[in-house]
Amino acid sequence: MIDSIDALRAARAALIGRVGLVPTMGALHAGHLALVNAARGDSDAVIVTIFINPTQFAANEDLSKYPRDLPHDLDLLRAAGVDLVFTPTPDVMYPADFQTWLDVTEVSQGLEGARRPGHFKGVATIVAKLFNLTQPHVAYFGQKDAQQVAVIKRMVRDLNFPLAIAVIPTQRESDGLAMSSRNVYLSPEQRAGAGVIRRALDAAAEAYARGERAPFALRQAMLNILAAEPLAEPDYVSAAAAARLHELDAPTDEPILLSLAVKFGSTRLLDNMLLPAALNTRDGLTRVLGG
Ligand code: PAJ
Repeated sequence: MIDSIDALRAARAALIGRVGLVPTMGALHAGHLALVNAARGDSDAVIVTIFINPTQFAANEDLSKYPRDLPHDLDLLRAAGVDLVFTPTPDVMYPADFQTWLDVTEVSQGLEGARRPGHFKGVATIVAKLFNLTQPHVAYFGQKDAQQVAVIKRMVRDLNFPLAIAVIPTQRESDGLAMSSRNVYLSPEQRAGAGVIRRALDAAAEAYARGERAPFALRQAMLNILAAEPLAEPDYVSAAAAARLHELDAPTDEPILLSLAVKFGSTRLLDNMLLPAALNTRDGLTRVLGG
């Protein structure tokens, strides 16, 4: 475990061969470990970063109560054969005179970006810093945060970062709920109801498979299923062009990203799926999501 920039640079310089990076905010679960295992399979060495990045949380969000369990995280990463874990404190990443920010303008605007102003500016800035510090050959991100993938891919192209992005499919609980560090906030009743999110995506995917291409009908198919779960409060449902994340208003044969955010009490859960459904593989996601 390393928590200073100098020690990280020295440890990075000592790694031999291809390096995979998995950036996280900790509270690790099987979703994160799927990224670690993919990196392990591809690379000679794996770096995981654990940093709850304050600049991607708005003032009204859950920064102070975000789940933390560093000893357990380190056990999991040791068992997974990770070479280097970087766990900086906020003052290491953002010294008092910090003043440089990265803004990926277009693809940050809709979906999560519209609901969480400034969120992707915080994400892009911290991920760029982590890329510079760890100099990976490949960096791994989860489909779960599809817009984050699109933002990072755009940043990598626009700023010529010398690395590849790999996108790993969403890992799910047995009822289909996407694994998330925030699932621990759910009451037992909310947890039982949250399976509706995946069923909503499945309903739209089935409509698509039957030939439905009207974006409003795909969105309506999701809303119809969500309406049957009284604890679910939809924040948005979206059918967007998978390459640029523009909300669709006309049928298209291009890949579509279905996505939704649903509140259960004060907990906001996200999920998404690419259409055609055969694209929800590492190869399909890595190629199509964010263009
Ligand atoms: P965090 O929410 O900890 O997620 C770390 C990585 O794990 C992200 O790439 C996320 O998409 C992926 N992930 C989370 N749940 C997943 C699941 N169920 N299946 C597959 N992958 C999953 O995303 C962040 O942290 C931060 O924004 C970060 C990129 C670290 C920048 O601060």
